[in-house]
Order: sequence, then structure tokens, then C-alpha cells
Amino acid sequence: MGQGVLEAPGYSRRDGVLWCEGVNLGVIAERMGTPTYVYSAATICNRLESLTQALAGLPVHIHYSVKANSSRAILALLKSRGVGVDIVSAGELHRALTAGFAGSDMVFSGVGKTAVELERAVRAGVKSINVESEGEIASLQEIAADLRVVVSVALRVNPDIAVDTPHKYTRTAELGMKFGIPHDSVMRVARGMTEMPNLKLTGIATHLGSQIDAVAPYARAAHLLVRLKREIEGAGIATISTLDLGGGLGLGASGDSGAYLQAYAEALRVIAEEPGTEILIEPGRFIVAEAGVLLTRVLYRKSSGGTEIVVTDAGMNDFIRPSLYESLHAIESVDIADEPKLLANVVGPVCESGDFFATGRLIPEVGPGSLLVVRTAGAYGYSMASNYNSRPRPAEVLVDGDRFALITERESDADLTRREISAPHWSED
Ligand SMILES: Cc1ncc(COP(=O)(O)O)c(C=O)c1O
Repeated sequence: MGQGVLEAPGYSRRDGVLWCEGVNLGVIAERMGTPTYVYSAATICNRLESLTQALAGLPVHIHYSVKANSSRAILALLKSRGVGVDIVSAGELHRALTAGFAGSDMVFSGVGKTAVELERAVRAGVKSINVESEGEIASLQEIAADLRVVVSVALRVNPDIAVDTPHKYTRTAELGMKFGIPHDSVMRVARGMTEMPNLKLTGIATHLGSQIDAVAPYARAAHLLVRLKREIEGAGIATISTLDLGGGLGLGASGDSGAYLQAYAEALRVIAEEPGTEILIEPGRFIVAEAGVLLTRVLYRKSSGGTEIVVTDAGMNDFIRPSLYESLHAIESVDIADEPKLLANVVGPVCESGDFFATGRLIPEVGPGSLLVVRTAGAYGYSMASNYNSRPRPAEVLVDGDRFALITERESDADLTRREISAPHWSED
């Protein structure tokens, strides 16, 4: 697979103005207002295609991680391309079902699934429930027995593999962290499951973290999963038919995504060599991040103590990654293509000093009314947005060639208070 496949066709300049595919971003701002998330359908499909091509020939099934971008129009687009999903809550189950996925298209991850969520997943016929603790296993056995069904289960393993990610909050795979069953407890837990007549152990899963730019951790994890599969099968406990390596793909330390994906595919090969084993992967960010931008308008400019400050109409409630993970996102002007000359902090209106998109960044010479985009905002953008400061969440727009469509309406003030009861109905026991 060449680099060409990965060239995101999504964003380009025409006469200096930034377009998403065949649509001028200024037109979207005009029609839909700001802040607005904009996604390029072609980029999403292109990313998926790059991954599929790199993994061609391996028995892999992609389960897109819904949490990265859970808007149903995006889910439906991905469904049309034949992927399954990885869900982590009953809310995501609802989204996926209503976007057209069947339970059999889903794996259900998550460290704290409630009994209600487990029951809903069982009733929906989810392909695999990836359990993370003995308490969850006991609860699931009870639910499956009540419903008189046998449920396919994968053990989510904590492999104790350290990964290098841009922020410590996106690492999940070391002992002491909340995720998974410690790798050295897996055999004991698997043995215990033989006492659970309504659970069928069919898989082993793991997830190492997010934005992993090296493939060595995936190779280590793949070897560990294969070793555990062999041990479980060797002890006559169960037949393992799926090994799930989770998500977390970055773009590769060299920035050469083509080489990275090839090396990733090589890391998975050890699983492919196990007879009768399907490989599952759960990429989220890799598929949608580059496809999205957050379109925002500059409200004000000011300076303080020699620092230039650009205030935008989008804030940390709309896009929290820079505040939460100190993530770096390119910021571009929609209509100024000049070299960036202004050294500034780009901040939002929320009453928090942590409300920023960039600090000490060179950006174009913008002023009130200028349109900016925050790049690489398609993953963990809208799906992490909140109403903090009673700010309605932004709109979402999908671009497909020369056309664009609203896929999530901007919230209204009425939406903010819709479920509140301002005159409480008190109960007494
Ligand atoms: C279990 C699981 N799978 C997949 C993902 C997706 O990760 P990414 O978006 O980095 O690919 C996550 C992210 O937190 C996860 O927790």
C-alpha cells in the first residue's frame, strides 16, 4: 500500500480559502453558524480503506470504536463500509442499533458495565462481551441464566505492557491500572468460568492505549494473546476463536503511515498463524480524527503582559482534548493562507484558565470575525463535548463531495434545561 492511499483528500485550499472536499468552509460557517464540527466522508472512507488494504490477507475484522465519534450518520457511513463496532455503554449500544448495526456486529468493552447494560447487550445478541473482572463475570452468568441463554465472552487482559503515548491518561495496559484482568490471573479466571454454564469463553481481548506510534507493543500483545490462547486450550478449558487487540493506532513515529500500517499488519501475523482464529481490532481515532475539524469564529483579540490572546467562540466544552490531554492540534485560518506570523494563545470563552486550543502558537494574523479551524478534531471531539458553562453543544456537519448535511443540530437553550425540574416534587419515606 502506498502513501497515496493515505493522502487525506478531505481538506485543501482553493484561491487561498480552505475547503472540505468540494465545499467552502466559509459557506458552512455562514449557513450553520459556529462552532461547528465538520467531517469529510471521503477521509473517513480513505482511512478505513488504508487500514483494510494493509491488513488484506489476514483474518481480521475491524470493530470501529464508537466512543471516538458516535454520531449516527458517521456510524451509518461506517456500517455501509462493512465494519463492526466496539461499544462501551448501553448508550452506545442504542446508538449502534439505531444506526443499523446488529448485535452480532458488536463487541462490548468497558470496566464498569452495570447489570442493566449487560442484560441489554445479552438481549441484543452482542457478538462478544469483553469482561474485565470476576464480579462482572458472576453478574453476567446470573443474567444469562435468568434469560436462559449462553453468552459468548472474551476475557479482557491487562498485559502489563507500557506504551509511549502523548499523555499518560491514554495508557491503559499496565498492572495497577483499572483496565482488564491481570495477565497472570487469566488462567485462574478462565478455569473459574468452566463453572458458569451460561457463559462460553470464546475470546481474549486487550487494549493498550491511544495514539500508539510504535508497533512493538502490538507485537508483544499479540504474542501474549496467542500464548494465553494456547494455555487455555492446552488445559482443555475452552476453544478460543477470537483474539482482540483493541484500538490505539497512531500514525507511526516516522509519520509514514504506510510503513506503520505494514509493520502493524506484520505484528498481527502471529495471530493469523493460529488455526481457526479471527483477529479483531478496535480502531477509533485512526479512522475519524483526521476527517474532522472544529470550525470556530474569532470573537476578540487582546494582549496581556506581552501575550497575544485570540478568543474564539468554541471552548473546552466543545473540544476538551487540548485541556485534558494537552494535545496539539494545528490551527488554521479558513481564508488567510499567509504564513503564520502571530504568536498567540488561542482560547475559548469558558471560565477556566485551562480553556485553550493552543498556547504560544504561531497562527495567521486573525482578528474578530475571522474563521479558524482546529484540525484533527474528528475523534474524541463532539463525543466528549459537554454543556459546561451552560453552553449548548455545537452542530455537526458531514461533507460528501460537493454536498454537505447537518448531522447533529446545534443545541438550544431549551435543550439545556429540558430534563430539569425547577420545582422539585419532594418524596418522604
Ligand atoms: C477498549 C477500547 N478499544 C478501542 C479504543 C479506541 O482507541 P483509539 O481511538 O485510540 O483507536 C479504546 C479507547 O479508549 C478502548 O478503550
